[in-house]
Amino acid sequence: MLTNILWLLGLIAVIVLFAWLTRRAWKSQRAWIKFPGVILLGLLSLGFALVTIVMGKGMYDLYRPYPVALVNVSIAGTTEQIARGEHLASVLCVGCHSQNGELPLVGGNDFSAETGLPLGEMYPPNITPAGKLNELTDADIFRILRSGVAPNGQLTAMSFFPLRSLSDEDALAVIAYLRQQKPVEGTRPPFNPSPLFAVFMGMGFMNIDAATAPIQSQSALAKAPNAEYGTYVAKFMSCTDCHGPTLSGDAPPPAPPGAPNITVIVPKWSKDDFFKAMRTGVDPEGHQIQSSMPWKLIGRLDDVELEALYEHLHGLTPVVKK
Ligand code: HEC
Ligand code: HEC
Repeated sequence: MLTNILWLLGLIAVIVLFAWLTRRAWKSQRAWIKFPGVILLGLLSLGFALVTIVMGKGMYDLYRPYPVALVNVSIAGTTEQIARGEHLASVLCVGCHSQNGELPLVGGNDFSAETGLPLGEMYPPNITPAGKLNELTDADIFRILRSGVAPNGQLTAMSFFPLRSLSDEDALAVIAYLRQQKPVEGTRPPFNPSPLFAVFMGMGFMNIDAATAPIQSQSALAKAPNAEYGTYVAKFMSCTDCHGPTLSGDAPPPAPPGAPNITVIVPKWSKDDFFKAMRTGVDPEGHQIQSSMPWKLIGRLDDVELEALYEHLHGLTPVVKK
């Protein structure tokens, strides 16, 4: 936070400097200094002012409190619930909260290093009972999953990842599993967004909708291999994060580039093609799917979930882009 404030002050100093130089140029007697000088320096002052405003807004959004009320949750902790939670964790949480894509959730690699952009430190923490988990109540974890708001009311990096689409039942199953894990020691540095992150935030690139609305109860759909359940699976698997809101390709950064229009690809595939692509990483044309597409995690969905996802995607009207 301190670094970001210093950056903001530095930017303000640069604006003052350019504004002062603009005034100097304006007062110049020589036309060849006056006019080009005023235009160039004036534009620079304006440009820096714009960046400063955007960054200031981003910092406000990063550090302000988000008053999302906790909701009461109660967790039965039955064997089936824990098993469901373990399954979901092995599909949804390991991608970030582990270094090798496997349970246990001992903490992961710096997320910003993976995007290749200097976004600051963004380490998914150790969420086994030896790590952060013991500082959190069930209601705290539920709120983190739904809205990304930490016990102190501030945003966590979890707000940017739309796990909020998990039904109440599935979210509670995840919490039931988290509590049952074997404790594994290990810590990760805290979330420390960089000035660039603050600028992205100010530009509205980070979706914080989850943190600005009260927590809504979400009832579970009956698990079945149909398009309706598939819509739910696609939601909690965040396909739109990379494939765009209509799945017609490329979401804006920080999503990795190159996510194709799957509304035209999957309808051409058979169910077997789809299963093979997600479970082996090889598509019907023999193309090895890159690791920027999380096929390994998607392939861990069970047969019912994967078939439902296929039915959902197969039934989409192809979005044709000009
Ligand atoms: C896309 C990456 C990503 C995924 C997927 C993800 N997390 Fe996180 N998670 C993070 C990051 C980064 C933080 C650190 C946030 C912070 O400190 O601001 C975090 C923090 C947390 C915290 C602690 C929040 C706090 O600071 O008190 C909990 C609990 C948590 N995650 C649970 C989960 C669970 C459960 C799942 C799976 C259902 C999950 N996360 C999936 C990236 C992820
Ligand atoms: C983190 C970003 C990301 C997410 C999330 C993501 N994808 Fe992808 N996806 C990609 C990228 C990048 C490619 C291009 C990979 C390639 O061509 O090798 C891709 C390619 C694909 C392809 C085409 C593969 C081919 O060989 O033609 C399908 C189908 C697909 N994704 C389905 C999905 C589904 C379904 C989901 C959600 C369950 C999903 N993706 C989530 C990034 C993502």
